[in-house]
Amino acid sequence: MKVPSLIGLDVSSSAVKLVELGQAGRGRYSIDRYVIEPLAKDAVAEGNIARMEDVTEALRRAWMRMGTRSRHVVMALPATSVISKRVVMPAGLTEDEMEARIMVEAAQVVPFSLDEVNLDFQVLGPAVSAGDVDVLLVASRKEKIEDRVAVAESAGLKVHVMDTEFNAMQTAFEAMAHVFPDNGKGQTVALIDVGATTMHILVFANQTVVYSREQSFGGNQLTQDIQRRYGMTYDEAEKLKRGDDKPDRYSFEVLQPFTETLALEIGRALQMFVASTSYSKVDYIVLAGGTSILPGLDEAVASRTEASTMVANPFTGMTRGGEVLIEQLANDAPALMVACGLALRRFDEA
Ligand SMILES: Nc1ncnc2c1ncn2[C@@H]1O[C@H](COP(=O)(O)OP(=O)(O)OP(=O)(O)O)[C@@H](O)[C@H]1O
Ligand SMILES: [Mg+2]
Repeated sequence: MKVPSLIGLDVSSSAVKLVELGQAGRGRYSIDRYVIEPLAKDAVAEGNIARMEDVTEALRRAWMRMGTRSRHVVMALPATSVISKRVVMPAGLTEDEMEARIMVEAAQVVPFSLDEVNLDFQVLGPAVSAGDVDVLLVASRKEKIEDRVAVAESAGLKVHVMDTEFNAMQTAFEAMAHVFPDNGKGQTVALIDVGATTMHILVFANQTVVYSREQSFGGNQLTQDIQRRYGMTYDEAEKLKRGDDKPDRYSFEVLQPFTETLALEIGRALQMFVASTSYSKVDYIVLAGGTSILPGLDEAVASRTEASTMVANPFTGMTRGGEVLIEQLANDAPALMVACGLALRRFDEA
């Protein structure tokens, strides 16, 4: 049976993002097409779809622009709609026995009725204690899943998998692990995604996630700085920020203070990581999210943290479809981590 092409769909606070990958032979992928369709401010806030109609319309436009034949998508729930917990269980339990234990564990961590959540679990592998396994429990709010599915369906799309943003980021990161010495084995790498409103911090040690945090800080802050400095509306400021035509002293008066503040926040976040784990430093920092492409940010972060810093591109090593332009992709790629990770799901299952 031919597997239908699945599209990764990330509904985030600044845009609706679609990514479609194909296979290019010898285990390589190709990025066939992608679209980033901006959303009005506040259409999606803190992971909640606040204005369903707006998001549906944006998704419809995005799908049309994409020029794909597939209507099948993989979506993700943001960290705010998911509660996860690592649980240790004896190896060799039956599926039913595991489920019973998961229910008990879930009742302890989920702050509302279990009727309101979808429970899922996944065996991660052998635990530190002999004869046990680590199991990841994931509880997601049904209501949040339903909102996302409703938006996709109203736009004429069919949702095949509901993943988590956390998982998708991890998948996209693994796809670019080949840029590190020995694929990141024995290294500590911090992936820092700075979007419009949220900064996600994931630290990988020896290719496994050992730490994750969210913090509310993002590119919207810079948009607001621009608004204040030049007396503009939000939309005008956002346009100025992304465009080529900047006022004379913009870099000095607005951009640099922002990149310094952001570098400071990142430095602090990594100090928190070091203080709360047994790791003493990170070897590499990978910046992602739309805000990571700000000129000078990587240098500012590198000099503050003393870690080699680079900007993420989950498509490195992939071939490109005819309409995907290399320079445009390099600009957009850091914001496509989640959508790319979701699009890769399809190959996991094959
Ligand atoms: N060319 C550019 N120059 C500067 N900033 C940019 C540029 N393009 C996008 N951005 C900024 O990147 C941010 C959007 O990034 P991204 O798409 O990663 O966020 P998001 O995933 O929608 O947000 P969140 O993860 O917080 O929900 C916005 O603040 C936007 O202004
Ligand atoms: Mg994002």
